[in-house]
Amino acid sequence: MQDQESNHEEEPILAGDLPRHIAIIMDGNGRWAQRRGMERSLGHREGVKALKPIVKESTRIGIEALTVYAFSTENWTRPSEEVDVLMALVVEFVASETHELKDEGVQIRTIGDIGRLPEAAQQSLAWAKNETRDERRLVLNLALNYGGRAEILRAVNRWREETPPGSRMTEADMAAYLDTHELPDPDLLIRSSGEFRISNFLLWQLAYAEIFISDKLWPDFDPAELRRAIRDYQSRHRRFGGLG
Ligand code: FPP
Repeated sequence: MQDQESNHEEEPILAGDLPRHIAIIMDGNGRWAQRRGMERSLGHREGVKALKPIVKESTRIGIEALTVYAFSTENWTRPSEEVDVLMALVVEFVASETHELKDEGVQIRTIGDIGRLPEAAQQSLAWAKNETRDERRLVLNLALNYGGRAEILRAVNRWREETPPGSRMTEADMAAYLDTHELPDPDLLIRSSGEFRISNFLLWQLAYAEIFISDKLWPDFDPAELRRAIRDYQSRHRRFGGLG
């Protein structure tokens, strides 16, 4: 098999309908490390390294938005050392990659209740968002302290506070109050590591997403696998509940 990682720059941009928005559950960091007799945290570190080529390739292909599940509302239950590593990696990622991402036209955003993240993470994210706010080529949306149920509850409660009593919420209201309000719903959900679960990710927004499960553990997920997922998406016949 050819080395797809090294020659992907030369590959033609995929023809056909592209997903506008791809959501990714970056699963399998822990297993990747454990299989090598390493600490789980090293798997997360490799997971961050794997993200950058995926963002670059998405930009090159012409994807408009990439939402990646970096830390869920449930991840707080992990050992505190692992939580600390994940938070430190957010700060490191932002510090080391923001300028290059900005040069590539990437706008960094977040979804989730980031007010509960450590102060250092909040500050670096605020800086990165501000730094990249005028970029328009691709939105890199980091889901941090994110849970789909919590997001829906936040949206409903805020809508209720801001709306006259007795009003009825519509689907458009809900979409407008969700954290993702400025983005189209994801067309494609990718989950790595062969697991078939949504794990409380974008519960409202994924209603009609096509799903691609990759057997690769996230640190091994590379641009070739991203293109495989997109080609698979292009072979689907999307009917949105109708007959197509
Ligand atoms: C799931 O793997 C992955 C996570 C809980 C975190 C994903 C985070 C990253 C890839 C790094 C952080 C991202 C940024 C942008 C700084 P797992 O640990 O559940 O793997 P396992 O199922 O093999 O245990």
